[in-house]
Amino acid sequence: MILVTGGAGFIGANFVLDWLRVSDEPVVNLDALTYAGNLQNLASLKGDARHIFVQGDICDRELIDRLLAEHRPRAIVHFAAESHVDRSIHGPGDFIRTNVNGTFTLLEAARGYWSALEADAKAAFRFHHVSTDEVYGSLGPNDPAFTETKTYEPNSPYSASKAASDHLVRAWHHTYGLPVTTSNCSNNYGPYHFPEKLIPLMIANALAGKPLPVYGDGQQIRDWLFVTDHCSAIRAVLASGTPGEVYNVGGWNEKPNIDIVHTLCALLDELKPDPAGSYTRLITYVTDRPGHDRRYAIDARKIERELGWRPAETFETGIRKTVEWYLANQDWVAQVLSGAYREWVEKNYAERN
Ligand code: NAD
Ligand code: DAU
Repeated sequence: MILVTGGAGFIGANFVLDWLRVSDEPVVNLDALTYAGNLQNLASLKGDARHIFVQGDICDRELIDRLLAEHRPRAIVHFAAESHVDRSIHGPGDFIRTNVNGTFTLLEAARGYWSALEADAKAAFRFHHVSTDEVYGSLGPNDPAFTETKTYEPNSPYSASKAASDHLVRAWHHTYGLPVTTSNCSNNYGPYHFPEKLIPLMIANALAGKPLPVYGDGQQIRDWLFVTDHCSAIRAVLASGTPGEVYNVGGWNEKPNIDIVHTLCALLDELKPDPAGSYTRLITYVTDRPGHDRRYAIDARKIERELGWRPAETFETGIRKTVEWYLANQDWVAQVLSGAYREWVEKNYAERN
């Protein structure tokens, strides 16, 4: 079996659902259920003996030791993190705790467990660390896309904490020989995406007739990947990646934010027209994010060349599926837009003109 951390969040939940769709290998899913973790994401696994959910913290060494001893996983896939850049600006402490100390705790527990394995199990064991393209910093308009050898230049508390965790993972391989792999992925989108992030926030606000808050001039570029393509990339790395190696994962889909918002408005105009007029009327430019990275772009040629991975979705197919999913899952959205979510929206947007 495998141990997944953060498997009740956006990407982790998609990964667990996908994993159990394509394999019968059981998953122990360790998640603290912070504001971003949601058991509703895993509701379709109710009663499925292949999924063992454990509510707990990756900073809890005793718990992790116990889970490793009890379940004897052949791999750990580490998603758990504080993941939202704007929240890291308002309160970086949680990001250092989970992303840095939590990853350290997990690495130490994994090292203890792995060291005591029999030779065959030891050679086959993997610790896969799920990281982000944001560690590489911001690109100019004509800069080449990030390769795996790009220098680290993290600019937000979030990306700095992820960069720190990447360095720990690297060091645990070089110093102790722990068989780690790391993937640095671009912006994901798709089902179960928490509506604090650009795409689900714009869909939720549009359907509620609220302003669509575009930071700064809206010309910042992100490289979008449908979430199940990220899941298949991680499976490929787990199956055939080389210990100690880093793999960049991206969708070859660079888009300015304002284009994303216009695409969402056009899809909603088609699928759920508003008698008041096009959703574009709600677009509102607001004060920029401090330290806002201008452009990310992933060069995903290494994972394609070495592991044969390519995304299955184009942006056009993925974004349509995403909008359709949100329209069909309004109950999920309503449950997520709870009191705590409203407090965050108040905090993040109240001071933006
Ligand atoms: P998310 O915020 O939706 O989910 C994070 C999950 O981790 C939640 O279920 C939360 O409860 C859990 N968690 C948080 N702190 C924990 C702790 N101390 N112990 C145990 N569980 C804890 O995040 P996401 O968007 O699904 O991202 C998952 C991973 O992928 C993160 O490591 C993130 O850095 C990385 N990543 C995300 C993206 C993206 O576009 N969302 C892109 C590249 C990489
Ligand atoms: O690049 C990978 C990263 O992508 C992941 O590591 C992070 O976990 C994930 O949150 C995401 O970070 P971003 O900051 O790029 O995502 P976000 O959805 O918050 O913002 C996307 C872009 O949209 C960014 O340029 C900021 C802008 N934006 C965002 C929000 C929430 C707006 O213009 N308005 C908004 O209200």
